[in-house]
Parts: sequence; C-alpha cells; structure tokens
Amino acid sequence: MATLTLEHVDKIFGQKTSRVQVLTDVNFETTAGELSLVLGPSGAGKSTFLTIAGGLQTPSQGNVQIDGQALNQLSARARDQLRLNRIGFILQAHNLVPYLTVKDQFRLVDKVKPKGNLSAAALARLLQDLGIDKVVNQYPGELSGGQSQRVAIARALYQNPAIILADEPTAALDSERVKVVGALLQRLAREQHKAIVVVTHDLRLRDFADHVYQLMDGHLTLEQ
Ligand SMILES: Nc1ncnc2c1ncn2[C@@H]1O[C@H](COP(=O)(O)OP(=O)(O)O)[C@@H](O)[C@H]1O
Ligand SMILES: [Mg+2]
Repeated sequence: MATLTLEHVDKIFGQKTSRVQVLTDVNFETTAGELSLVLGPSGAGKSTFLTIAGGLQTPSQGNVQIDGQALNQLSARARDQLRLNRIGFILQAHNLVPYLTVKDQFRLVDKVKPKGNLSAAALARLLQDLGIDKVVNQYPGELSGGQSQRVAIARALYQNPAIILADEPTAALDSERVKVVGALLQRLAREQHKAIVVVTHDLRLRDFADHVYQLMDGHLTLEQ
C-alpha cells in the first residue's frame, strides 16, 4: 500500500495581480522502503510540495493521502495526531529550541510524544553516526550550521516515524557528511522500511535515491 500519495495537487498563493501558482497538477506516490528525491532549483516549489505532503499546508486543489487516509477528510485534531505519530519533518529552519541543550531537545520530544521513540542506546548510536555525540550539552547557538542541521536530522529520526520528509537536509554539510546522511537515510528506508522524501537542489544525494523527480516551475516529473 502506498504510504504517501499526492493526486492532482495545485497550490496557488494570493489573488488577482499577486496570484502565483506554485504547484500545478502534482502527482506523487511513495511507499515504505523507498527513498524519493525531488530535485529542483530555488523557487521551484520544493518546500511548498513537502509541507503539503506532510499536511502542514493544504493544497488549493487535489488531495493528499497518508496510509490511505485523505487528509482533507480528517479533523484538524486527527490530522495533528497523524502527523505526530507518523511523520518526521526535517525542515530548513532547523527549529531547535534555543534555550535547550542538544540533549534536552530530545527530552522535549519525549514530552510531546512519550511513546515509540528510539531507545537511549539507539539514540546514542544515531548521534555518533551523525558526529554530534560530543555536542549534547551545548545550546543551539553554540553549534555550527552543519551541527545544528545534523541535530535537526537526529531529532526527526528520534521519533522513529514511518514517513520522513526532509527539506534540504544537507545544505550546510560538507561532502563527507552528505555521504553519511545519504547513507543513513538510504539504510532507514531499506532496513526499517521508512518512506523517505527529500527535496533539495543538492545533486550529491542522487546516488542514494530509489526514485529521482524533477520539480520545475511547479511541475513534477519522474526521471528515468
Ligand atoms: N506563503 C506564500 N505566499 C506567497 N508566495 C509563496 C508562499 N510560499 C511560497 N511562495 C512562493 O512560491 C514559490 C516556491 O517557493 P518554495 O516552495 O519555497 O520553493 P523552493 O523550496 O523550491 O525554493 C516561490 O516563488 C515563493 O515565493
Ligand atoms: Mg525551499
């Protein structure tokens, strides 16, 4: 069964002279065990696509289904629950809480979602894989861009979500770190049957993807 489906999705912002159509008839489907990459230049609509896929924004036309559930048929509360329990977002603004240490960013996840998160041992391994095990007592303001990006990745994965939606997760990383993150996401898809969608202009992630899409001026196409 498809885990995440977009059907005939349009997204339009503004009206009349300020009207911009950002997505046009976008169709997309991914299932558990696959890493899909959506490539496109800045302004192509990647973040809009990803936030609509995860139910953070609603489409102007068309619909989104998660695990066969149409998001527009759920109450706001049910949608929030579905997001919390099924989706891990790695967003561009890393959204770390400035007054919490790295370690406490994970404790905060435990408060919001007490069940189903990684074990302490699995978290320690993840932090080590991502090379951030030495910064657990630091505050976000003390981290480099690449470190805070990796903390944001770890925090999303900590929730052990079935679907992982990542917006430019490697933008601040050097090539070695890109390989680590690419391989980690690939392994999560293959071994833990996650459905992973990465939107990016980072061509370095190509090698890790099962499917590569191009998003150009709001039109999504599957590469051969
Ligand atoms: N809330 C909004 N209101 C108006 N225009 C928006 C809004 N969000 C995005 N856009 C426009 O949609 C286009 C695509 O944006 P975005 O999805 O962020 O692209 P990308 O992530 O590929 O850079 C841009 O031209 C942007 O200005
Ligand atoms: Mg973007």
